[in-house]
Amino acid sequence: MKGPMLIFDSGVGGLSVAQSLRQHYPDAALCYACDNAWLPYGLREDAALTERIVAVCRAAVAACNPSVLVVACNTASTLALENLREQLAIPVVGTVPAIKPAAAISRTRHIGLLATKATVGRPYTQRLIDSFASDCVITRVAADALVVEAEAYLAGITPNAERMQAALAPLWDAITPFSPACSLSSHHQPLATPELDTVVLGCTHFPLLKPWLSQLAPKPVHWIDSGDAIARRVAQIVDELYSDQQDGRCFTTAPAANLTAGLARYGFRAPQLLSVGC
Ligand code: DGL
Repeated sequence: MKGPMLIFDSGVGGLSVAQSLRQHYPDAALCYACDNAWLPYGLREDAALTERIVAVCRAAVAACNPSVLVVACNTASTLALENLREQLAIPVVGTVPAIKPAAAISRTRHIGLLATKATVGRPYTQRLIDSFASDCVITRVAADALVVEAEAYLAGITPNAERMQAALAPLWDAITPFSPACSLSSHHQPLATPELDTVVLGCTHFPLLKPWLSQLAPKPVHWIDSGDAIARRVAQIVDELYSDQQDGRCFTTAPAANLTAGLARYGFRAPQLLSVGC
């Protein structure tokens, strides 16, 4: 089927995935759809959210007739991928936390998972950990406040460092596990948990905040997102990608004029309102 690649997220997070897709496929047409009327997904109840995701994706597919749907949202993918595949007649590529690549590079075998409250607790996430990182300590940090900061950033507002620090504090504690009292003692006890050296950005909003994340971190760590893996997956399941005049179309479920400039930086036009019917 000919048509653009449709990227879907609750909000602007999918733009981090769009950026990777544009790097891998500079000539492919991309459309973007986000459910900003229901944002943030990470705090929604599962059954209602599943229904909503299917309804919005169906409406977006009808509006832009894509050749493939990329669900650029960990919170949606870890919940509703199967439902979407059942309901849609096009290939669906999901986004799930990059536990496998993180486990491949972590030396200390202590990995941070920074994601929404929903994603850190999902059985899908646990299965990824059991399959690919069973020898690692995983520190899970629910950081839904960062979704709000990333949305504000795309609307032209500088992220608030204090609010970010508050959301990230549990992660920083795992990066530097010595307490001051402990580090002054002449006889260090062996640490029960090694220092964390790798952080999975398990929410597509978070790579948009990477400069702030790196700046606020007490020590350098590897930040791993899913963008490149998604781009490679698209190549595996779609024979050909098309360039057409639909490139850059953008759909939102609530008015989003404040995002027009931010969307333009990622190659998307001013948003059109998508009628979902629920
Ligand atoms: N961008 C979404 C993700 O990757 C989540 C944002 C939200 O909570 O809506 O999980």
